[in-house]
Amino acid sequence: SAAGSAAIASLGACGRHRAAVNTFGEIDFSNELSIPALAQARTDNGGTRVFTLGISAGETQIKPGKKTQTWGIDSSILGPTIRARRGEQIGFLIHNGLDETTSIHWHGMHLPAVMDGGPHQEMHPGAEWYPQWTVDQPAASLWYHPHPHGHTAEHVYRGLAGMFIIDDDETDALNLPSEYGVDDLPLIVQDKAFDEDNQWDASSPMGTPSGILGDEILVNGTHSPYFDVTTRLVRLRLLNGSTTHPFNFGFDDDRDFQFIATDGGLINEPFTTNRIMLTPGERAEIVVAFEPGDEAILRSYPMDISIRGNEARAFGIDDQFDICQFRATSELADDTEVPSTLAPEPNLDIDDVITRRNFQFSGTHINGKRMDMERIDFGVRLDNTELWTVENEHNNFHNFHVHDVQFQVVSLDGNDPPAHWKGWKDTIHLPNFEPVELLLRFTDYADPNIPYMFHCHVLRHEDDGMMGQFVVLEEGQEIGSVPDNAFHE
Ligand code: C2O
Ligand code: CU
Repeated sequence: SAAGSAAIASLGACGRHRAAVNTFGEIDFSNELSIPALAQARTDNGGTRVFTLGISAGETQIKPGKKTQTWGIDSSILGPTIRARRGEQIGFLIHNGLDETTSIHWHGMHLPAVMDGGPHQEMHPGAEWYPQWTVDQPAASLWYHPHPHGHTAEHVYRGLAGMFIIDDDETDALNLPSEYGVDDLPLIVQDKAFDEDNQWDASSPMGTPSGILGDEILVNGTHSPYFDVTTRLVRLRLLNGSTTHPFNFGFDDDRDFQFIATDGGLINEPFTTNRIMLTPGERAEIVVAFEPGDEAILRSYPMDISIRGNEARAFGIDDQFDICQFRATSELADDTEVPSTLAPEPNLDIDDVITRRNFQFSGTHINGKRMDMERIDFGVRLDNTELWTVENEHNNFHNFHVHDVQFQVVSLDGNDPPAHWKGWKDTIHLPNFEPVELLLRFTDYADPNIPYMFHCHVLRHEDDGMMGQFVVLEEGQEIGSVPDNAFHE
């Protein structure tokens, strides 16, 4: 395509010399946006709603010409949207039909570590895994993706990812846009690099220090997508599902939209903006207003962040992408609204802090260490409030993700956090040399032997070892050791 050819030549083996990508005005928006199916479940005798998911390799018609070799979950690419309600007991029967060991991690979910689907819950080829837990957190847009030790970037890039929407009664009562696929859309946004045969493998520099960067965009696996808008308000659940690339979302006419939810759910009061930057793994919910007959292009704009020079180019900071076109019909239904108050504010209190920890990101290390599957870095106490200070100490691009909990941002470089960080978060950009202070509380699921992960969600960095492990301990419990049999199912 016209869009691809200009930039693809620059995608060499070394990401550091990659030129900025510019697809503004180059995309023809010829494909209807695919909306992932809603996963079906059956209720077992114990009242658990059980979803069955199969992971397999396949091929997908993404661009004209040859099909692309892809991986998917109950689909040739990506996976169905899972929907569950707060308070519900849910379970999964997952089959790994790949020739490789993988796992499925529930990103943003509060759940027992043994159900978390991280590198200690891997499935061998042909294996099955049966996690189950009770959903116990507010309505939010979470997601799921593989997390096998050292291969997360590749597995996500090949197509394994899906949305996981949690519902609750409070949110249902708000009259927000909520008709799935009509005025409530998941947008899984991913950059890809295609070779002349429409394949991802050959031209994707899986091995560069910065990771995999593409010069074309897929949304829900759709290339060059458009969506027909039939309602005045549309809620977009934006997920940066890339392995490396940050996106700075906005519309081509700079229209304002309302920001309503962070990673962990609705914020207290919506606010109006025309840009929202998400690093890999982060989500945001926005509500966009359309006029009859409107056309607007969702784009990613170059980012004004402190990373400089070649490092900025290596992470695509200066790239600009056309992402998806929205075409409003001549009459629009208008029966939803964004109320001025959405959800309670995060309620952790800095005066309750018992334990403080520091996390320094530099090189491929956190606090000078790389991931070791058998090393548990620390234990947190059940129900203690902790203050974590996380700093990116070099001129490189990182973010920070913690499993099991949603955290509250106290400050960025000593100042109040920006508005889009004022709700519950599980993944956060680490601006260079600006410490971020987070409040966390671990309220359930003590287990001295099975760790949760914390890591950089630039997936190449995670795979390179920018990750550590912690356990949740009851009063009087000591850190245990990871049992051998926890490594594989
Ligand atoms: Cu989205 Cu530890 O991962
Ligand atoms: Cu990183």
